[in-house]
Amino acid sequence: MICVSLGRTRHKMMIAEHQQLAQKGAQLVELRLDWLGNPPDLGRLLKDKPTPVVITCRRSQDKGLWKFGEDQRQTLLRSAIVAGVDYVDLEEDIAGTIRRYGSTKRIISYHNFDETPANLAEIHQRLASRDPDVVKLVTTAKVPEDNIRLLEVVKNAKVPTVGFCMGDLGVWSRILCRKYGAPFTYATFSAQRTMAPGQLTFEETRDVFHFDQINAETQVFGVVADPVAHSLSPLIHNAAFLAQGVNAVYLPFRIPRERFEHSLKALEALDIRGYSVTLPHKVAALELAQTKISPTAEIGALNTLFRGAAGEWCGANTDCDAALASLRLSFDPAGDPLHPQTDPLNGKRVLILGAGGVSRAIATGLIRAGAAVTITNRTKSKAADLAQSLGCVLAGWENRGAVGTDILINCTSVGMHPKVDETPFQQHWLDEAMTVFDTVYTPERTLLIAQARERGCKVVTGVDMFVRQAARQYEYFTGRSAPVEVMRDTLKKAISVVKVT
Ligand code: ATR
Repeated sequence: MICVSLGRTRHKMMIAEHQQLAQKGAQLVELRLDWLGNPPDLGRLLKDKPTPVVITCRRSQDKGLWKFGEDQRQTLLRSAIVAGVDYVDLEEDIAGTIRRYGSTKRIISYHNFDETPANLAEIHQRLASRDPDVVKLVTTAKVPEDNIRLLEVVKNAKVPTVGFCMGDLGVWSRILCRKYGAPFTYATFSAQRTMAPGQLTFEETRDVFHFDQINAETQVFGVVADPVAHSLSPLIHNAAFLAQGVNAVYLPFRIPRERFEHSLKALEALDIRGYSVTLPHKVAALELAQTKISPTAEIGALNTLFRGAAGEWCGANTDCDAALASLRLSFDPAGDPLHPQTDPLNGKRVLILGAGGVSRAIATGLIRAGAAVTITNRTKSKAADLAQSLGCVLAGWENRGAVGTDILINCTSVGMHPKVDETPFQQHWLDEAMTVFDTVYTPERTLLIAQARERGCKVVTGVDMFVRQAARQYEYFTGRSAPVEVMRDTLKKAISVVKVT
């Protein structure tokens, strides 16, 4: 179950919003009485309540907004119990002064906005001794491992315990607590009005992470990155799991660069089955992979870690596979894009714009496929280093329009949202015989893609590649063939409505 936290300053709005949440399917709503501008009128709020409620009224010392007296607050909580509300939230220190009565369940809560203390088990024990129906233990993650310690307490608890970490290092624990037995989690009614750092919305919790379907057997996957908040990978992997009825969840793990090795080791305790790996960890993750799927080692960076038959970490670079497959299909729609009998890329001239990690991955694959690759980049030294290490041709950035090529690939970030009116390659340099591939996928129709279409070029978009790299990861993760169309539709819908940065 998801408890949706609702805070508004006016009674009228809180009641209206509560009705809307019920219509959207909310099953439990926390009314944050401290948000109200006037003294709360419980009778009005509860009169036609459309869902079960948790009544919570936080003091300023607990980062709440309550501005009236403490006596008044406790009277309000007692009145809520007398009125027979479903749950009342009592902070640890007042739990002893507010008596159990009737059918109202007691949530005994502890919040720590500064850290995740070392003595979590002791704190939990204290809360459990205050006559709870549910213990709520919420701390702040300062490092990713804090989540693991907290989930351990949830797992070992004898009393139903809602426990997770706040902050952007803790987002995933809000979902994963379900696997360890938390009866519910908290989500906000509105992305603009979060009640606590790192809170997800009701819709994200329900429709992206499918919180209510998580159980002890759910397998866990995720993306490790920093930052991770804007990653679209959770959306498409979770949609794929749902479409195929796979009992798995895919989470966003924000892991700071300097903690990568340590955090991944610590996460072993949670038996994570696979990761998508992205900036800034693509090179560091290579060290972790005991088995490297070719040509991951040559590329020197990976974007996928998954468990091999013996439980070892295997590393793969699905960006490379995905780019080559997308290109091959544009030449030979009926061919096998991963293992072609005769490779349509063999002998093709390719001009790659950019000299970062994506350029390296795609260029390595193309050279192996027998293409003649030329690299050009705004910063010449980086292009020169890459061209030298791969043994391919270097072109000056200012001369890029004059390089004769069959395939043009943009591996720079030029044209990406929000600077959608930029292109790395002028339209009059394009020739209708060229295939133009843009790895940027936000938006799908970049200026380069639009101008190439106008010229009559064949085009391959970043959406093709993004979906294929995710689909290939999904195959490594699950051993099944991926529901590519579901993944594509989900991604397209997301990038058409979400502002991706
Ligand atoms: P990735 O791993 O996605 O390849 P990266 O390593 O940061 O990311 O590489 C980004 C690429 O985009 C680089 O080649 C970068 O050029 P520089 O090496 O000169 O920085 C290129 N890039 C970014 N902004 C650019 C711009 N405005 N014009 C041209 N190239 C740009």
